[in-house]
Amino acid sequence: MEYLVKTGDPAKQRTACLILGIHSKRRLSASARQIDDASGGHLSQLLRRGDIEGEAGETLLTYQVPGINADRVLLAGCGDEKEFSAADYRKAVAAAVGVLDKGGTREAVCCLTELAPRGNTLYQTLRDTVITAEEKLYRFDRLKSDPKTPKRPLHKLTLWIPDRDQVKPAEKAAAHAMAIAAGMGLAKDLGNLPGNICTPTYLADEARKLGRRSAKLKVRVLTEAQMQKLGMGALLSVSRGSRQPARLIVIEYKGKRSNAKPVVLVGKGLTFDAGGISLKPAANMDEMKYDMCGGASVLGTLAACVEMKLPINVVGVIPTSENLPDGDANKPGDIVTSMSGQTIEVLNTDAEGRLILCDALTYSERFDPAAVIDIATLTGACIVALGKHASGLLANDDELAREVLDAGTHSGDRAWQLPLWDDYQSQLDSNFADMANIGGKGAGTITAACFLSRFTKKFKWAHLDIAGSAWNSGNDKGATGRPVPLLTQFLRHRCGLDG
Ligand code: BES
Ligand code: MN
Ligand code: ZN
Repeated sequence: MEYLVKTGDPAKQRTACLILGIHSKRRLSASARQIDDASGGHLSQLLRRGDIEGEAGETLLTYQVPGINADRVLLAGCGDEKEFSAADYRKAVAAAVGVLDKGGTREAVCCLTELAPRGNTLYQTLRDTVITAEEKLYRFDRLKSDPKTPKRPLHKLTLWIPDRDQVKPAEKAAAHAMAIAAGMGLAKDLGNLPGNICTPTYLADEARKLGRRSAKLKVRVLTEAQMQKLGMGALLSVSRGSRQPARLIVIEYKGKRSNAKPVVLVGKGLTFDAGGISLKPAANMDEMKYDMCGGASVLGTLAACVEMKLPINVVGVIPTSENLPDGDANKPGDIVTSMSGQTIEVLNTDAEGRLILCDALTYSERFDPAAVIDIATLTGACIVALGKHASGLLANDDELAREVLDAGTHSGDRAWQLPLWDDYQSQLDSNFADMANIGGKGAGTITAACFLSRFTKKFKWAHLDIAGSAWNSGNDKGATGRPVPLLTQFLRHRCGLDG
């Protein structure tokens, strides 16, 4: 969709639809009051009939409002005025965009942007508006033979702001939001693709495709033979059970001319996780096509970096493989040697994410990173602990952890920290190798991170477990594009940019 920023008298806007906010107990927003006055009290008259209360997500579409230049007025409920939160705001924007898109209105002027949810800057509100609208309009129907797309979809949204001086920053916010939404869209598309299409080779081709978008990107894809030479015995042990060859995707984004140390993003790219010989139960196993969402979020974040021209160096490293049962697959009890030289007893072949990540983390040392963040759908235990609202965060550096948490809060894509205390390390003891790949009963998300921590001693490192946040289950099954907003925000902060 196209977005413009505009100021001026709302009553004078020539548009197919004016979107106005209304809080609980039928309290009109400032611009809605202006329209009410211009129309000789038309809106208040309407409200007295009781068709809308102003709860977040409610809408009321009206025609022929006198005294204004808009064809329609859409009232969008924003919830309690005193408790007005960013979540309520997003509900209002999503509901409004949904009604117009379905209803055949091609273009609208949105005055919701005048409402500042608690703690939000104008920049944040505008960015939220565009990202929320783009999320609402997202569809994944390329694999349907007859997609049901609206005949007259919404294609232009004008963001109305009260203050003329704010036009430039508002336009900047909209542009940034478009970049983030596009990155999320890429991550969602890749996540939603099924395992028979989105294979490791497919992911690598997508990375190469992304690489062609900008001269600042350089993509390299390592084959199994090349990984063998590097000694990546843990990663390769996972792909041995699959007919699809594993790949290690490496993308370098050079946004800075200097040789400043890069931030390295390592994303789990398990294109289908059946568990291997430690086979998963059948119910909902289809959702394990989402086990590459960490890798997809790295590609989405790099796409956003390119679009925003962020002045920073970033490297994306994506180990990608399938995890399937096979005569040549890992067996419980097998011992493999990682690139670091440490040996691992594979007590459960379904704890494969850490096996591919540990070699990718060791590989990351060569970039002399300023910081490494890995992103992985790593443990079901993280869903038990945090559900879908927060990603799990564990880190070997307090300052880095703080930065990641802040980026989550600022972008509305939140993470919550769990302890990485030494006390948990002994759960990984093995009688036969340097460590086991599972930590037994209790603290599954923490012991998974403890495992990874043994491969991250040489740099500042944070781990995001996105098992709960990367996709939705049930009726609205689909990838969320998280944590692209968090990662982009983190990188913007690293560039010293505010907002
Ligand atoms: N990809 C899964 C984690 C997962 C499971 C994410 C369900 C989202 C929903 C991972 O590879 C896995 O299987 N982890 C095991 C680890 C266990 C064997 C220690 C798990 O969480 O059950
Ligand atoms: Mn698994
Ligand atoms: Zn997995």
